[in-house]
Amino acid sequence: MPGIYIETFGCQMNEADSQEIAERAIRAGYTIVERPHDACVLVVNTCTVRDNAEARAYGRIGHLKVLKDANPSMRLVVTGCLAEQDRDRMQRNVPHVDAIFGTQELARLGDAIAAWRSEFGETDAGLEEAEERALLVPVGGNADGVTGAYSHLRAFVTVQRGCSYYCTFCIVPHVRGRFDHRPMTDILAEVERRLEEGAREITLVGQTVNAYRDPATGADFADLLGVVAELPALERVTFLTSHPKDFTARLVRTLAAYPKINPRLHLPMQSGSTPVLRKMNRKYTIDEYRAKIEVFRAACPDWALTTDLIVGFPGETNADFAATLEACREFQFAQAFSFVYSPRRGTPAARWQQLAVDIGKERLHELNRVVDEGMVAYYTAKIGTTVRALINGPSKKDRTKLAARALDNVNVVAPDTEGEARNPRPNEPWLDIRIEAAHRWGCSGTIVGRARSFDGPARAVASPVLDLIA
Ligand code: SAM
Ligand code: F3S
Repeated sequence: MPGIYIETFGCQMNEADSQEIAERAIRAGYTIVERPHDACVLVVNTCTVRDNAEARAYGRIGHLKVLKDANPSMRLVVTGCLAEQDRDRMQRNVPHVDAIFGTQELARLGDAIAAWRSEFGETDAGLEEAEERALLVPVGGNADGVTGAYSHLRAFVTVQRGCSYYCTFCIVPHVRGRFDHRPMTDILAEVERRLEEGAREITLVGQTVNAYRDPATGADFADLLGVVAELPALERVTFLTSHPKDFTARLVRTLAAYPKINPRLHLPMQSGSTPVLRKMNRKYTIDEYRAKIEVFRAACPDWALTTDLIVGFPGETNADFAATLEACREFQFAQAFSFVYSPRRGTPAARWQQLAVDIGKERLHELNRVVDEGMVAYYTAKIGTTVRALINGPSKKDRTKLAARALDNVNVVAPDTEGEARNPRPNEPWLDIRIEAAHRWGCSGTIVGRARSFDGPARAVASPVLDLIA
């Protein structure tokens, strides 16, 4: 069967869209491949939320040109937010791209992939031929998230498209449109289907997932999450991204009530200064954010609280920035994703007086020092414990290691003692990893067991030292 290679940049919505593209392609008779050399169709699913996401996507499309030059019958397709926003420029400047589909055109993209199917032969290129191609036509750069043998274990199910909140820094409502909530019956049908296909963790995704309203019944996100968490076939469920404005006491009660919900809340704070939050149009003050965290911590004391932060926003003073540092010390985020403000064409804040670039960079550096302290303290507390984590596959940075993600979203890496890289075993996807060290990016340790299900017993895995002795 011809291969399709899918590379995903950006947020959880793009992950969900890539899974949909993969599913359509499989139904049309393709197989998913993990190297661009093995594919007849290459899909780059792009992001435009910050300038560097845009630059990386263009860089990647450039890297893939060598493959297209070597094999002109291959199709290179670009989709996602950058495709939506930059279609004309892309058509002009990157002529080796065969087709461009915006975020609202996933169905058309699926149809095109299905229509191209008959152009490609029935059989795979042999392994040797593919190896030879990989040697002859090296592709520069590093791949971002690639859909592969383990991707189906984590299913991203879209609950809503778009966002109507129009934060003044954010491009999302401009490229993805306003809220469009999916009927709850459709969401549940997709969740059940993904579980049947082997998903071990369902992530309910939306830009502001907790603003969800079922268009038919008015049921809210707490209702939806509760129904999903009660599905007998479900192992784990999580959700991204929540907005503080819609984070209610009712939702907190749901989080506390269902043990199948992963103990991690991602609640972007963006800034610790109320005047900046106001200019960002975030719809909450820092005191309101604090009050919600207090309710949450009281009900879910062992949960990880994670966040997104922006520094160098137009008009951010030293005092505003100090308030962000102070809030980070106070809330002790288990993880914080920090960014320098990046002006986005067409958004209000891009038209305002900007801070000098160096100020943003310096503030990011200082902020990272503070948030890293909190993150490393959180990771260090895990040393000596054993966590059950869902496999991601061989580590991208070191193929002799396996990467997995714990329930609280912490990356965990351990030596691949059983040759997973050569022989993937996604049907035994839960790794029991004894944590031995903490790093800026997560934890490392040793695999001591593997389980078929989250609640199931683990098969013992011999440690590398024991193997050597035996
Ligand atoms: N819907 C989510 C929310 O309520 O915050 C997040 C959407 S956005 C795709 C993910 C993160 O990127 C944001 O939380 C924000 O921190 C960051 N971000 C968005 N626009 C940005 C910009 N123009 N410059 C820097 N960071 C930005
Ligand atoms: Fe963007 Fe704000 Fe919506 S960050 S996705 S406009 S909540």
